[in-house]
Amino acid sequence: MFFPQFRARRIRGSATFRRMVSETTLSVNDLIYPMFSAFGTGIKKEISSMPGIYQQSIENIVAEAKEVRDLGIPAVLLFGIPECKDAVGSDAYSDTGIIQETIRALKKEVPGLAVITDVCMCEYTDHGHCGIIKNGDVDNDSTLDLLAREALSHVQAGADMVAPSDMMDGRVGAIRDTLDEHGYDAIPIMSYAVKYASGYYGPFREAAESTPQFGDRRSYQMDPANRREALREAASDIDEGADIIMVKPGLPYLDILRDLRNEFDLPLAVYNVSGEYSMVKGAAERGWIDEERVVMETMTAFKRAGADIIITYHAKDVARWLAK
Ligand code: PBG
Ligand code: ZN
Repeated sequence: MFFPQFRARRIRGSATFRRMVSETTLSVNDLIYPMFSAFGTGIKKEISSMPGIYQQSIENIVAEAKEVRDLGIPAVLLFGIPECKDAVGSDAYSDTGIIQETIRALKKEVPGLAVITDVCMCEYTDHGHCGIIKNGDVDNDSTLDLLAREALSHVQAGADMVAPSDMMDGRVGAIRDTLDEHGYDAIPIMSYAVKYASGYYGPFREAAESTPQFGDRRSYQMDPANRREALREAASDIDEGADIIMVKPGLPYLDILRDLRNEFDLPLAVYNVSGEYSMVKGAAERGWIDEERVVMETMTAFKRAGADIIITYHAKDVARWLAK
């Protein structure tokens, strides 16, 4: 088809035509909102690098979660900041831990909102790594037991879904076995299947107080240079029983998202991480970009690349903009 037979602009000429031929749709149903629950009362502390995002004690989490639900967002993803941290992250699997108490409050006071929990050790360990340290590195297999205990304790407290983010090998299988043994075979696992060792997590570590006290996470999180390895990571999590697989971070890894979409037919999630959020907020505050336009374009990019679910700190704004 040569010009002038094919004129791409014909179908772009009116808002109505553009609406008719739009290939990608974004819905409030696609969103998950992350929240940081802190030990104590009366706490609502803004993360300096994440305007609009707070560490909050339970009563404030509950209040914001109601707002989230009323905006039509189906789920929150919970992170906990415990009172005390230790070498084995005891608060992570304590029945009276910060997350367990938060889950119980949310299930009681915010019906209709799904509660998904991040399952990892780094918020609960004094060294800030995602597992148990042996010989200067995170030990894979001894960490699996703790992750399984942590996931079980979240579910016993009422979590609707668990989301392991630690990147230990075999953790989806270990969690699935433990949940099933305790009668929780109906609880889904959303696996951070493809999680890169990324500089974009910087602001989150302030939010979750989970900066590693030595070294970095490169011995367990993926090398940003690797694409084929992402398919292996995802395939193994699916084999072990993952119900939803995730790519993280989002924008710098749209190619990976598309690869996974083409290869697998499970629901696919993307995590639009803290650093991505901070960059947009920082530029918008300076008037350098149009925040609404850039955020909505970013959300559309995730959907276009193949995501079904978007975990994003922008979720409340996106819900409001969609409803306009
Ligand atoms: C914990 C965890 C991290 C994030 C989600 N779960 C940080 C990390 O691995 O260091 C990052 C989320 C974000 O940056 O928004 N393992
Ligand atoms: Zn971690």
